[in-house]
Amino acid sequence: MPKVTIDNIEIEVPEGTTILQAARMIGGDVVPPAMCYYSNLKTSGGYCRTCIVKVSQASAKDPRPMPKPVASCRTFVQDGMVVQNTTSPELLEARKGVVEFLLINHPLDCPICDQAGECDLQNLAYEHGAAKTRYDFERRTFEKIDIGNKIKLHMTRCILCYRCVKVADQLTDGRVHGVMNRGDVSEISTYIQNAVENDFSGNMIDVCPVGALTDNTFRFKSRVWFTNPLDAHRACTKCTGKVVLWTKGNEVLRVSARKDKYAEVEEWICNDCRFEHKNMEDWNVEGARKTAHDSVISQNHYENIDLQKLKLEINRQIKHQGGKKIKEVYTQAQIENKK
Ligand code: SF4
Ligand code: FES
Repeated sequence: MPKVTIDNIEIEVPEGTTILQAARMIGGDVVPPAMCYYSNLKTSGGYCRTCIVKVSQASAKDPRPMPKPVASCRTFVQDGMVVQNTTSPELLEARKGVVEFLLINHPLDCPICDQAGECDLQNLAYEHGAAKTRYDFERRTFEKIDIGNKIKLHMTRCILCYRCVKVADQLTDGRVHGVMNRGDVSEISTYIQNAVENDFSGNMIDVCPVGALTDNTFRFKSRVWFTNPLDAHRACTKCTGKVVLWTKGNEVLRVSARKDKYAEVEEWICNDCRFEHKNMEDWNVEGARKTAHDSVISQNHYENIDLQKLKLEINRQIKHQGGKKIKEVYTQAQIENKK
């Protein structure tokens, strides 16, 4: 079995493992972010470039470095390969450039976007983005479109990761949507605004890493961090019926699939479970959902704040803003923490 070293950690992996999968086997900070790869969607990956890594030794047989960063979701491990992710400052700089490109047309509408709090792009921009944009040109904008009565497409926010297209291809029959045009005029669309109506189309909402595809039955009902997520199941003939209920009191505001620590759906759910069962009585509640992936939902415990970590994080952000007001911000955070 080939051995690969990622950020100075060596691991032996089965033949045919990609660098990203090997990094996930190690876990923790060495795992590169991934905006288009999705482990249970075939042929996903290779579109967004957020998962780039530096290969400083291609293999034991050929120890030369690869000439430029490679997409870790699409590059297979070779025996003796040496990879750098967080240990390479140039690589982190290059990833910052990728994030800047992803944000070129993305609107800064997080305050009104339903995906806020569980948006992979928001997390990515926070970790790897620059505080300011250098982009002066007019941004692409689109009218919002209803694709069917349950899904709203807000193309302005789309980063063209193709995940929803893979869902349509692999989970549903009679696919009616895809990417139209090429280059900077590409857009997700349906044939003549066809409705996307089939049993599993709702999964497109869950795989969308940004707020481009949102649940029409949940839009503007609540911020996710004000809801109470519960694991629940029901007997369903189309899917496993295992879901997360996003509740407020006894009201079920949204039903979604369960996601793992990489924000990937564990088991696809059908539209019946997702859209047609919004009563508590329809479900057997198992208990509180622990959100495994990075999200403000799982960060909502200010009493456990780590002051040292907070100081480092504030310093990092202030550095991007030209070194202003570090003292005041930090002191204020200390005061808040003591309250
Ligand atoms: S709509 Fe969402 S899932 Fe589909 S390509 Fe755009 S960002 Fe990706
Ligand atoms: S996750 Fe690898 S290119 Fe997008």
